[in-house]
Amino acid sequence: MSKKSKSSPSHVIGIDIGGTGTKGGIVDLAKGKLVGERVRFDTPSPATPEKVADTVEQIIAELSGRPECPGPEVPVGAAFPAIIQHGVARSAANIDKSWIDTDVDALFTERLARLVQVINDADAAGLAEARYGAGQDVDGTVLVITLGTGIGSAFIHDGRLIPNAELGHLELDGHDAETQASAVARERLGLSWSEYSTRLQRYLSHVEFLFSPELFVVGGGISKRSEEFLPALTLRTRIVPAQLKNHAGIVGAALQASRSK
Ligand code: BGC
Repeated sequence: MSKKSKSSPSHVIGIDIGGTGTKGGIVDLAKGKLVGERVRFDTPSPATPEKVADTVEQIIAELSGRPECPGPEVPVGAAFPAIIQHGVARSAANIDKSWIDTDVDALFTERLARLVQVINDADAAGLAEARYGAGQDVDGTVLVITLGTGIGSAFIHDGRLIPNAELGHLELDGHDAETQASAVARERLGLSWSEYSTRLQRYLSHVEFLFSPELFVVGGGISKRSEEFLPALTLRTRIVPAQLKNHAGIVGAALQASRSK
């Protein structure tokens, strides 16, 4: 690898692989913002490793045509909805089960012929919020909770990420919490905003009791409608919507990759 990848690149590609869409963009790391438009493809179904790798390849091909795109010596970051340890997926709650034990770093790195660093999707969002968004300059524990197909969580302490927290799988009243309080659970169960707030209240008070955070940051697509449910919550912890919205995963994945050695 050339020397260039060891210095801090200013622009890095970030990819965010989700249950329904796979998105990518070029991130300006000085600002924590996308340069140019985001590229989005449907996540293939079934979302097997080889098929998702095809989609990621397509995204890179599209971004590579832009003048601001970093060269192949700059690592790419990818956010993925599973436990990721040393680049290997260790769970697959909302993605094809064939990912379990797949070395995601190795699969994408080989396919793209450039270094790819994978990170849990909520961890990516958490890093982005801690560095550029709602969690900036907050000391102590910040919990970033993403409400989407599942519930993702990032545990940040004094600005540092403690990876793979998986607080969406806390068992609550005999259920896996994400099956009761994710954004998709709200739709599946046909809950009104007020009913949904009651579920979030139950979930977040439990998380608050366990970790006493300084701040909750609520992310995921539903955070765009946070005024529908945040005001109804009574917690002793300050709770705010995420600031990076749909781009948090892309930005956080790029940030993580820029720190790779
Ligand atoms: C997964 C997490 C992921 C979250 C959000 C959960 O079901 O276990 O790893 O971060 O969904 O995608």
